[in-house]
Amino acid sequence: MPLMLDSPSVATSATSSNAPLDPREERRRLHHDADIVIVGAGIFGCAIAVAMGKQGRSVLLLERSLKTPDRIVGELLQPGGVRALRELGLGECLEDIDAVVCKGYEVSYYGEPVHIPYPQNADGTRPEGRSFHHGQFVQKLRVAAMRCLNVTVVETTAVDLIKDNYVGQVLGVECSTGGKKDYFFGSLTIIADGYASKFRKENIPHNPVVRSKFWGLELIDTVLPCPFHGHVVLSDGPPILIYQIGTRETRILIDIPENCASASVKNGGVKGHMQNFVLPSLPESVRPSFKAALEEGKLRSMPNSYLPPSTARIPGMIILGDAMNMRHPLTGGGMTVAFNDALLLSQLLSPEQVPSFDNTKAVLKQMKTFHWRRKNLTSIINILAMALYSLFAADDAHLRTLQNGCFRYFQLGGIRVSEPSGLLAGIIRNPLVLVYHFFTVALYAIWLRICAASLFMKPVELVNGIGVFWKAVMVIGPYILSELRA
Ligand SMILES: Cc1cc2nc3c(=O)[nH]c(=O)nc-3n(C[C@H](O)[C@H](O)[C@H](O)COP(=O)(O)OP(=O)(O)OC[C@H]3O[C@@H](n4cnc5c(N)ncnc54)[C@H](O)[C@@H]3O)c2cc1C
Ligand SMILES: *[C@@H]1O[C@H](CO)[C@@H](O)[C@H](O)[C@H]1NC(C)=O
Repeated sequence: MPLMLDSPSVATSATSSNAPLDPREERRRLHHDADIVIVGAGIFGCAIAVAMGKQGRSVLLLERSLKTPDRIVGELLQPGGVRALRELGLGECLEDIDAVVCKGYEVSYYGEPVHIPYPQNADGTRPEGRSFHHGQFVQKLRVAAMRCLNVTVVETTAVDLIKDNYVGQVLGVECSTGGKKDYFFGSLTIIADGYASKFRKENIPHNPVVRSKFWGLELIDTVLPCPFHGHVVLSDGPPILIYQIGTRETRILIDIPENCASASVKNGGVKGHMQNFVLPSLPESVRPSFKAALEEGKLRSMPNSYLPPSTARIPGMIILGDAMNMRHPLTGGGMTVAFNDALLLSQLLSPEQVPSFDNTKAVLKQMKTFHWRRKNLTSIINILAMALYSLFAADDAHLRTLQNGCFRYFQLGGIRVSEPSGLLAGIIRNPLVLVYHFFTVALYAIWLRICAASLFMKPVELVNGIGVFWKAVMVIGPYILSELRA
């Protein structure tokens, strides 16, 4: 029987139908009690539910709406995310959703393109990403969770934590199911309720910072200059992202920073920005479908947040996914972070490592290891996204110098393309490679200006270069520091 997620009553029947009687399943269904309670059946929640269910843990996965999500987020999965998804045994979630292969990027700078393919694997093949409709992919993940015998999925909204106030331990969550109060208990509660997390405020020492929004449109039958590649369009304004999400559908995401002049009320707001700035800067072949989509007017927006990572400290509870750590979606790294985190967490909290989650001390100890070990990959994705966004949304002279240097650096080819694209892809897992390329770009940017200057102006450019270099330090420094904190 196919699992029809959009029908309301599947949640409980899906897990119990053909399964032999399992007392733990009954405990979950009747007593709302499990080893783990997970809040949010999104990208991270589904992945960790399946991973832990397969390890033999009893899992309750709570989701406020099991309907197909209709969002403009999480549509391009980098190769490093595809790999983690496969290692989680969830590779088939990418099948039958009309997913499109992604082989790398094309960056266009004032109309001049540079090709940035993902770097070759050791065996000569090339890694591939996938892009798709977010909702269809999430439904696949949810079905995979429902099929897992040790996981029970329940449609309910978490409203509060249940705490033992005496020892400060989290025992589960209070929920609202169809307006009625409901309680779910677990030795461990994992919060994965996404970017607008309800539980972040009291439990995490940082607040998300939003510098810009992505405005999204769906284009139909667009011809991309470089098929099977993500496109980044750079010119005088903030960056634009274009990638296919289905055989006929293409997503365009337009970054609009707060206080963006071309999107001011005087200039016709967001629509004005689209008409006067975006349309002329797009590749010729994309303009007709962009115009059509603009006329249809289904513009939607999402905040682009930055939230540095933090260590879990509260006994009985872990916060992960976007609820704990976010970076600008320019580089499409969020889901790659989520799947790699799920993989690492399931290894560190495996029954061999931590036989029972009741041992909250052992869990917290493993979480410390988790916090540092995940950084091999996630610090790269976090820093790269934020630093690249600063360059691509350049709003002062020094940043524009760095932006130009970055593009010219890519044009040099060789490892100047393959290593940055390996970092972006989530394949290269050494943060020093990122730091190396970032500062080489800065020096190259300064060098280009000195070369271009007249003899008289060369000393001036040299001095100016100090300013550019300092800017580069200020762009990347804070993000590096935030990764070094516990
Ligand atoms: C504009 C934009 C574009 C992006 N594009 C990409 C991209 O191309 N590639 C990429 O890898 N990443 C992208 N991301 C990031 C990516 O979407 C996230 O990193 C990823 O979805 C995080 O997964 P999550 O499980 O933490 O949250 P989500 O996937 O948002 O899941 C959270 C789940 O929790 C549920 N929930 C919320 N509150 C409650 C509650 N109280 N009770 C029960 N359930 C609840 C929600 O319904 C949802 O199902 C983008 C982000 C933005 C903003
Ligand atoms: C469920 O858990 C049991 C152990 O409790 C394990 O033997 C079994 O393999 C798990 N089932 C699935 C489908 O992963």
